[in-house]
Amino acid sequence: MLNLPTEDQVEFTKCVQICQHRSCRKQGAVAVLAAFQALPVEDVKIMASGCLGQCGNGPMVLVLPEMVWYSHVLPLEVQILVEKHLLGGQIVTKMLYHRFHAQK
Ligand code: FES
Repeated sequence: MLNLPTEDQVEFTKCVQICQHRSCRKQGAVAVLAAFQALPVEDVKIMASGCLGQCGNGPMVLVLPEMVWYSHVLPLEVQILVEKHLLGGQIVTKMLYHRFHAQK
């Protein structure tokens, strides 16, 4: 089941959801969530989510409201996402989830 943003997420400029369901947890999603929580960004909410419906491609990370999906995210890559995407406003192309973001 896809977890869509709830009303309390609307007050944040951005929300980052990190799937913590079975498949993503097996692929290291707990450490990815911890890495995001260790690098807080003003007005960005970091959330554990249920299954995002993309099992096997995890850890899955979804940035809202722009609906940018990252797949196979490693804890060591979280700093890149925080610096480039959350702080710098630039999508990290090489980490995008191919199913929703076509490769060029
Ligand atoms: S377990 Fe993470 S997308 Fe399904």
